[in-house]
Amino acid sequence: MGGEAEKWVLMVTARTPTNIAVIKYWGKRDETLILPINDSISVTLDPSHLCTTTTVSVSPSFDQDRMWLNGKEISLQGGRFQSCLREIRARAQDVEDKKKGITIKKEDWQKLNLHIASYNNFPTAAGLASSAAGLACLVFSLAKLMNLKEDNSQLSAIARQGSGSACRSLYGGFVKWCMGKEENGSDSLAVQLADEKHWDDLVIIIAVVSARQKETSSTSGMRDTVVTSALIEHRAKEVVPKRIVEMEDAIQNRDFPSFARLACTDSNQFHAVCLDTYPPIFYMNDTSHRIISCVEKWNRAEETPQVAYTFDAGPNAVMIARNRKTAASLLQRLLYNFPPQSDTDLDSYIIGDKSILQDAG
Ligand code: DP6
Repeated sequence: MGGEAEKWVLMVTARTPTNIAVIKYWGKRDETLILPINDSISVTLDPSHLCTTTTVSVSPSFDQDRMWLNGKEISLQGGRFQSCLREIRARAQDVEDKKKGITIKKEDWQKLNLHIASYNNFPTAAGLASSAAGLACLVFSLAKLMNLKEDNSQLSAIARQGSGSACRSLYGGFVKWCMGKEENGSDSLAVQLADEKHWDDLVIIIAVVSARQKETSSTSGMRDTVVTSALIEHRAKEVVPKRIVEMEDAIQNRDFPSFARLACTDSNQFHAVCLDTYPPIFYMNDTSHRIISCVEKWNRAEETPQVAYTFDAGPNAVMIARNRKTAASLLQRLLYNFPPQSDTDLDSYIIGDKSILQDAG
């Protein structure tokens, strides 16, 4: 380790988009390693709309690991952050910055402390997969800083230990999280099904029904579901495996009617198992239900479905329009029926494309 008077700081900045599952992950078979009870598939969004930007820095003058989220210091003591930091430090390599005259040997990473500053450009913990973008970005930027040799799929297995859905944000386009079979989680990782250029006429519109933080976190909600729901086993073992195969086909063939049917029914079944949890979990509200009715009515009136909808652990609607023309028409209908900031309590709209992971640093 070197550098003039040990005053140096080395930093990396990365930007990672969030992802929205079209076949949902809900339920773990291992809480510590974050191993799911079923495979899931997601679409990675355009980073200009929903993304986390993280700067990680290292300096011999830092006396402890510290992290700030949206400008406020948060604790790094949670087991999940510690798991990610431990796994990354264990794989760290030698780093040399000739311009600054800094050399860090791989064993030095165990002693050096980190400062991490993360910023979400969208509401945190409001059911818009903020933890997915956040943990993926943390792992990606630290991997760059510490010069890890692992590819994105191997990094996804580390991000998974921070938050399950985060593993899917290591890739752009369409991504599958394979649940894996190994007890140590080594095969529970993300793979890219199709890149961001595949099926690029899809447009995503998010209706932010409420930017408030959700009452039941995904982590505790899915834990309660696994323990109390009589339907979850049927979903994980019988329904999802078939849907995964069908969804992969629909994506490869750009088959929008199948894609929409699978995404909508899977979202509905996820919310059904939430309702089947005891005590029941209500993530959607009246506005969410009215949005579903509006889309269903429109799809039925057309020869073929125009829009797919999906809702995560919150009331916000993610709608996927089959092309730009449909997206314009969808937006017109939404603005007419659900004007933002009106008594429908709908906050705003976000419009974006599928996109790629970006390394800004
Ligand atoms: C409804 O990944 O937030 O968004 O693994 O406990 O951190 P933890 O949960 P998280 O759960 C996401 C659930 C979901 C569905 C999905 O993204 O597949």
